[in-house]
Amino acid sequence: MTDWGLRPGRDADADGFVALIGACWSLYPGCVLDVDGEEPALRALASYYAGQGGALWVAERAGAVVGMIATKPLDGGTWEICKVYVAPDLHGHGVGPALLAQAEAHAIASGATRLALWSDTRFDRAHRFYEKQSYVRSGPIRVLHDISNSLEFAYAKPVNGIAVLDAAAAASAEVRLSTVLRACVAEGAGVGFLPPLAPEVARRFWLDTGRNVAAGTAILMAGWVGGVLAGTVTLALATSETRPHCAEVVKLLVDPSVRRAGLGRALMSRLEAESLRAGRTTLFLDTRAGQDGEKLYRTMGWTALGTVPDCVIAADGTLASTAYFWKRLTAEPVS
Ligand SMILES: CC(C)(COP(=O)(O)OP(=O)(O)OC[C@H]1O[C@@H](n2cnc3c(N)ncnc32)[C@H](O)[C@@H]1OP(=O)(O)O)[C@@H](O)C(=O)NCCC(=O)NCCS
Repeated sequence: MTDWGLRPGRDADADGFVALIGACWSLYPGCVLDVDGEEPALRALASYYAGQGGALWVAERAGAVVGMIATKPLDGGTWEICKVYVAPDLHGHGVGPALLAQAEAHAIASGATRLALWSDTRFDRAHRFYEKQSYVRSGPIRVLHDISNSLEFAYAKPVNGIAVLDAAAAASAEVRLSTVLRACVAEGAGVGFLPPLAPEVARRFWLDTGRNVAAGTAILMAGWVGGVLAGTVTLALATSETRPHCAEVVKLLVDPSVRRAGLGRALMSRLEAESLRAGRTTLFLDTRAGQDGEKLYRTMGWTALGTVPDCVIAADGTLASTAYFWKRLTAEPVS
């Protein structure tokens, strides 16, 4: 049973905000809250966010502020998520996800197409929280020049859409990518693993993919639906000297909860565009014969090369066939 609830924040919550942020910062070395010198907006925070076109909420328990969050619009459809704090004794009790869901819903209802936030590089617990909530590292570290000597990571996610992940983004997406991979394997997808797929094996796979991204031998894409990282595909570029124009499509995955909504097709269309950009015009892939991937590739202009029987072990222990496809790309990717 929860003994806390959410409500809009008020200017009169100022003392509660100062106590809450102070308690959270005290968990990390060197983080010092100087309200009047560096955070004067805390004295009238609801007015501050209202003035920016944004909004503020608190989590309250027995009349005390035990959590807070705010959001405000930036340029070009991006809304920033700000001031995310939960009292240390309530960490792990669902307050953070509830606050974030509230702020994201408000931003999306107000027209946000992208959500972004900054997080102190010391706040490692917060990073895991944002990564679980489908945010990925995005762009350079920010230096604040404040008395806490703060450095901040940028995190962001599209509400709906596809993004190419660089090495930092790939590393931060590991948790969500592993969740999607494990869900696909659990429902019997033929993607190179047998169920049950252990979390650490899935993480290891994405760690290796991230390493390939860093080395320039893979292009990793992720897709979001309603702010949730729900799909991915990788273009493997490590081909031989005689095949500099070729690449292989691997691990096209869409979370079972959002199938048949167009994400698989959108990922493949973006992959084709990125492939052309990388000068790779002949693509190959293989897929479990008869599964949904084969149906998708046939609708997107891929040519079937043939099927190898009894090629792989299926989830039920029997042997299954693999279908091979290729596609030549032209300047206008076919969607
Ligand atoms: C293959 C996969 C990525 C498709 O993702 P998706 O988001 O459901 O695909 P889309 O919604 O974009 O579907 C695109 C088209 O593919 C075809 N298709 C996909 N699933 C299908 C199904 N179950 N039955 C018939 N056609 C299907 C349809 O033509 C569909 O278009 P439509 O919905 O307008 O009819 C998804 O099923 C998946 O992750 N499967 C498990 C992993 C896997 O097998 N990956 C392929 C490895 S090579």
